[in-house]
This record gives sequence, C-alpha cells and structure tokens, in this order.
Amino acid sequence: MRFGTFDDRQREYVIIRPDTPLPWINYLGCESYFGIISNTAGGYSFYQDARLRRLTRYRYNNVPTDYGGRYLYLRDNASGDYWTPTWQPIRNGVEDYSCRHGMGYTIIRSTSNDITTQIRYFVPLGETLEIWQATITNNRSEAANLSVFSVIEFALWDAQDDAANFQRNLNIGEVEIVDGVIYHKTEYRERRDHFAYFACSEPVEAFDTQREDFLGPYRGWHEPIAVEEGRSRNSVAHGWSPIGSHHIKLALQPGESKQVIFVLGYQENPRDAKFDPPGSSTVNKKAALPIIAKYTQRAEVDRAFDALYDYWGQLLGALQVDTPDEHTNRMVNIWNVYQNMITFNMSRSASQFESGIGRGMGFRDSTQDLLGFVHIIPERARERIIDLAATQFENGGAYHQYQPLTKRGNDAVGGGFNDDPLWLILGVAAYLKETGDRGILDEMVPFDNTPGTEAPLLVHLEHSLQYTLDNLGPHKLPLIGRADWNDCLNLNTFSEEPGESFQTASHREGGVAESVFIGGLFVIAAHEMAAITGDESYNEKADRMAETVLEHGWDGDWFRRAYDHFGEPVGSKECEEGQIFIEPQGICIMAGIGFDNGLAEKALKSVEERLATQHGIVVNQPAYTRYHVELGEISSYPPGYKENASIFCHTNPWIMIAAALLDDGDRAFDYYTRINPSAREAISEVHRCEPYVYAQTIAGRDAPTHGEAKNSWLTGTAAWNYAAITQWILGIRPTYGGLGIQPVIPSTWDGFTAERQFRGVTFKITARREGPGNKVTITANGEAVDGTVVPVPDGQSEVEVIVTIG
Ligand code: BGC
Ligand code: NOJ
Repeated sequence: MRFGTFDDRQREYVIIRPDTPLPWINYLGCESYFGIISNTAGGYSFYQDARLRRLTRYRYNNVPTDYGGRYLYLRDNASGDYWTPTWQPIRNGVEDYSCRHGMGYTIIRSTSNDITTQIRYFVPLGETLEIWQATITNNRSEAANLSVFSVIEFALWDAQDDAANFQRNLNIGEVEIVDGVIYHKTEYRERRDHFAYFACSEPVEAFDTQREDFLGPYRGWHEPIAVEEGRSRNSVAHGWSPIGSHHIKLALQPGESKQVIFVLGYQENPRDAKFDPPGSSTVNKKAALPIIAKYTQRAEVDRAFDALYDYWGQLLGALQVDTPDEHTNRMVNIWNVYQNMITFNMSRSASQFESGIGRGMGFRDSTQDLLGFVHIIPERARERIIDLAATQFENGGAYHQYQPLTKRGNDAVGGGFNDDPLWLILGVAAYLKETGDRGILDEMVPFDNTPGTEAPLLVHLEHSLQYTLDNLGPHKLPLIGRADWNDCLNLNTFSEEPGESFQTASHREGGVAESVFIGGLFVIAAHEMAAITGDESYNEKADRMAETVLEHGWDGDWFRRAYDHFGEPVGSKECEEGQIFIEPQGICIMAGIGFDNGLAEKALKSVEERLATQHGIVVNQPAYTRYHVELGEISSYPPGYKENASIFCHTNPWIMIAAALLDDGDRAFDYYTRINPSAREAISEVHRCEPYVYAQTIAGRDAPTHGEAKNSWLTGTAAWNYAAITQWILGIRPTYGGLGIQPVIPSTWDGFTAERQFRGVTFKITARREGPGNKVTITANGEAVDGTVVPVPDGQSEVEVIVTIG
C-alpha cells in the first residue's frame, strides 16, 4: 500500500494522504539554520545546534502524534468555519491534500470550503531564517472574507531545559511586538545575545504571544479560541509559554489568489550592541529589519527559492546514472544523495527518532558519513575532517562525539570506542581519492583542541592506526574497549543498574575482550595508510593482522565476532545464542581476508543461509532471548529489534560490497534491492517509515513486526548504501590514479550510463554488457585504457568512457 508517489522529474516525493503510518518528514536548511518538517507541518527549527539553540517547541512522543509545528489556521469570517490546510492540528475537512517533500523544501496544499491553500516552506541559502510562503485562492463564485492565523510556540532555547525546568522557565518568557513583528527574547536581558523574530508580509490585524490566551483554557491546538472567535487578544507574554501568532484579514474576490509570507528568523547581536537604545532592555533590531523587509517580498522569496532549487540541482549533478532499475536511479540520483547531505548536516541529532538533545556529532558517524558526500561538497568534507581530527587524543584515541557549536569533544561520553580512530583513516582516504588534495595531510591540527599540540593531519592518522596496535588483547586481536561499530556490544560493562548508560559505564578492566571486527577494519585502514604514504610496512601490518584474524577469528564457516571478558568467543557455533554476526563477515571480506582459501565465499554463503531475510540481512542469529550481562546492551533489546537481530541497514551494504568483490553482481544487487526504500514503497503499510530515505533498522525475522522500519533518516546506512551501489555495483570508484570503473552489475542488465564529475572533469560513461562475466574493457575518448582506471585527462573538461562488460 502506498501513501504517495515519487515525482522524479521535480525531485519530490508527493504524499497524497495525510494519515501516513508515521509522520513522514523532511529537512529545511542546509547551512546553519535548520528545521524538521512533517507531512502535516509538524516539527521544529533550530540554529546550528538542535539542543542549545532551539527556536520552536515540539513535543516528542506526544499524543496525538507530531505536535508543535508551523501552522496556519484559516477561518471563513462569514460562516465561522475554520480549518488547518496542513491537516493537523484540526484534522478535518481538507480535500485534495498533498505534501511535496523536495530538496530542502516542503509544499503542503489542500482545499477546504472552496478555498485552496498552498504553503511552501524553505530556508533561503545564506540566511538564518525560514519562509512560509502561503498562496490562498478563492475558488468560489462569490467573494470570501477570511482570517488567517499563524502560530508557532517558542522554545526557550535549550531544548532539554525547556522540557524540564518549569519552576524557572514559566517565569522568564519575554517578547516584544513592534510593527506586527513578534520578537522572542527570553534570556536576552542577561546572557544570551540572540533572539528570534516572526514577521508577516501583510498588515497585522492583531496578534498573540501568550499561548493560553490564544488557545483558551484547557483547549488544544485543534480549537484555539482566538481562531474560533476570529479575534486575537493582542496578548503579551510575561513568563508562561510565549508563542508567535499573527491574525491577518483577507478579502478574496471569486477566483482571486493572494500570497501571505511569514518569516521566522534567528538573529545574533554583538554583545556591546544588544540594546537599542543602549542601556535599555529593548532588543536592537537594526540587523534584523532589512532582512525582514527583504523576505516579506514575493519576488525576493521566489528568487531565493529558485536559487535553492538550482543549488540542489548542482549538488545532485555530481553523479547521475541511468540504469534499468528505477529504484536505483531515483535513490542514486536524488534521495540517497539528499539523505547523505542531511546526515552531513545533522549527524544523529534531530529527527523523529533523535530528539535533538541527546547526541552531538559522532566521531565514527561523521567520518563514515563522509563517504556519502565527499564528492558533492569536498571543501566542507575537508573542514569536517579537520574538525574531527582536532578532537582526537594524542594517544590516537578519540572522543566518541563532539558538540557542533563548540567543536569540542564531549566529556560526558568520553572515548574508548576502539574502532573510532580507524574510521578517520577511511574518511581521509576517501577524501584524497576524490580530490587528490594531498595538502590536507600537512594541515596542522591540534589534539583535543589544545593549542600547542598541533601536528600534521598525517600524524593524526598514524596515531589512529597505532592506537589499535597499542591496544591488542590476548589473541593479538584489537581490544574492543567500550564497544566497536556495534555500540551495543559492551563486553566490559557488566551493567546491573537499570538506566545506566551501556556506552559510558564499564565495570571491568578492559584488557581481554577483543573485536574481530576491529581486526578487519584495521586491515582496511592499514592498506589505506600504505596507499596514502607509499610505506610498505603498513601492508605488512595489515597482513599480520589478517593472519591473526584467520587464526583466531575464523569459526569454521564464518568469521567470529569477538572474544568476551572471559576470553570466550562471541559469534561462534560454540555460543548458545548469537552464533553468527553480519559485521565481521562484511568487514573481513572487504579487507580481502579469506580470498585465496575460499573462506570469504564460505562466509558469504553463511550470511545467505543464516542471516538473509526477504526484508534484508539481520545482524545476528540466533537473536538473544535473555539478558547477557557479559554482552551488554545488545541483549537488552527484544529479539529482532535494533542491534539484537534486526536488519541493521548500515551493515547490509558491507555484504553487498563483499558480494561484488566476490564477483556476484546478482547477489549484491538483490541485497541492495531488499532494503532500498523506493523498492519497498509498495509495502508502506509494513515498512511504515518514509519510502524515500533509509531507516537505521527494519525489524528482523524474530520480531513480531518483521519488515517494519524504524529510526529513519540519520544513519550511516545512507552513506554506505550509496557507496555500495555507486562504487561497487556500478563500480564507479575514485582512486588515486583516476576514476576507476569496474561494474559488478546483475546478469540481467544490459548496461547503464552515468555522468560523474571528478576532479573538474565530466566523465560520460556508457557501460554495456557483452557477455555474462564481469571482465571490463575500457576506452576513453576512443583510446584503449590499460586496466580499469581512467586517468583524469589534461586540459579537457569532458571524457567519453565506453566500458564493455563480459
Ligand atoms: C543504540 C545504538 C546507538 C547507541 C549510542 C544505543 O541505544 O541502540 O544504535 O549507537 O545507543 O547512542
Ligand atoms: C548508531 C550509531 O550512531 C552508530 O555509530 C553505531 O555504529 C550503530 N548505531 C550501531 O550500534
């Protein structure tokens, strides 16, 4: 069952009924001002940091769901009827509803009482504000006398405090209202130097800034008294709960349309120019006023929207493909790229499942996210790499997270996730292969942001690798520390305390528990270091670790997962539950381990036999059915959910890549399709999350809700699936020497075409299947290429590449 449809030409997903299984969201903003917005206009906005600079209030896990948003109410002043064109909060009487989620904008449209309203929400490039551009059309044969009410609820900046510290918060709310503009200035009188403004393009009849005056006592957002009575109260918030609501009157002739534009913005003032006049407590509005004047004009707003649309067109233009499969095309060309950019912006902070208060930017997450956007915004990838490396400790370890506002490591979580540093090497390698910018290796970067400790980035990478070697366990496999990629495999935690964080607590010495996964990751990272530096000794280190993995990490039919605190294997036939795990199969095969003795093939076969389901490949089998104190959070989840045997979509692409490396294009593509959200659109009632983006998990076969997705949007799944399909199945792979092209496509495909921007040159690729195998022959501009890497041509802006597969 579908709730909408893809409009690939417009690059939009069009939801055609509002009661989607869950709120299906989109993101506004791509630089510093951001928001999430659902298909019924629910969501919130923030500046840079979803916790510390929250502009508007949203209620997670609320009943009814998805409350707090960017709402307009329309009222027919003749009949007294009122409705919300975004369906919520009133949820009645809208016809022809549609919500178009596009790249950085959302358009919601509906008709009620013969009045059509369309609201386009977006954040202009270069600005710290959002626009709601409403077009209201009278379809009646007589004139309509309407009222429009806007409403947002202000958050008191720190979203966590906002939801908890009521004894203070209900006393501090402050606003100003000048010329119809509502200024939210809570705490501005003291230590904050930022405020929010909410403005409207039309003359304002009246306003409200105190929530209870607008709603009326004991009323909800679905029946505000101000709207019901058609009369705002001109309330001024002193404490309690400040809101922003304008009341506008509109007279529309038959067939007439009018636009009303609302602007919600964030503004900072220099400390010494906060007040106007100086010494007062009145907000200095000088910087905001010209911005408001500009964006309350329709022509400016249209221009800003067009610029945003073009901007996304340009970003998506880095790689466009045309394959025989529409799901591949739409994900690779549009939605997967978009999701990659969103994970770049948000890391894991703000979504329907991430409350914006819990987590900073993950070190592991952000380094892996790089794989998905390094070719789109290389300069920003460079900056991200430096920011991350600057949080690294001198011993090569890393803070698990850093705060986007301060770019400092997060002390509350600390370090000790022993895979973290190695991902930095993979991220930098991806950057170097894409850009050829070796200068980044000489960039001086401090450790733990401490002045005086600066060292070239290359030294950071060396320390990253050395960190693993300095932390080996009894089998000479890497010690796992708090956890590796699987944050829930907490082998030193031994938590008995309800509510204790599995990630930050640890109750045993960490000198025994080892990770086969980190062993595989080390092999990949060491090979990358050899390629970066030309130093062969890194390859020897890789080989030594690969041998150790084979010696102590092979279980007979698959790679083991780990050794626990007692030196007992995890992910082995010897175990009662959790006998096989997906992660080491993927990572060890990607590391090239077990290729010359058939073990890689064998591991892949075990994955197929034991872990693959029609909805994707699960993490482990058998699922843990009881709490294993020695394994930690993984066994805290009911079977089939999250790290305990769900289809953890991040890991599936590793198996796709493994299959491609083993020359099995059919299997790789089959796994790709099983979790491709577009390919799952038709079972939206089962999948339930948005069909245009990946979710972190799909419930596994042990779960009663097998096939149901959760935690959509902010997941490393985006970058890795993008890498799997573009670099390994389509085989378009940046290398140091040029653009590698080595497709391992399904046997049924007769080929594909692609256009890839690479180091300033457009590669126009036509791949044709001429035989059943994967052997590749390439010509570039008519000349035979030796091998599978097409060098970047000198002095040409374009190269025609013909690839024969057979
Ligand atoms: C989740 C993991 C996540 C970890 C760290 C756990 O509860 O299951 O997926 O990585 O928290 O935030
Ligand atoms: C989500 C986290 O963001 C990621 O870093 C981790 O690897 C996975 N969960 C698996 O635990």
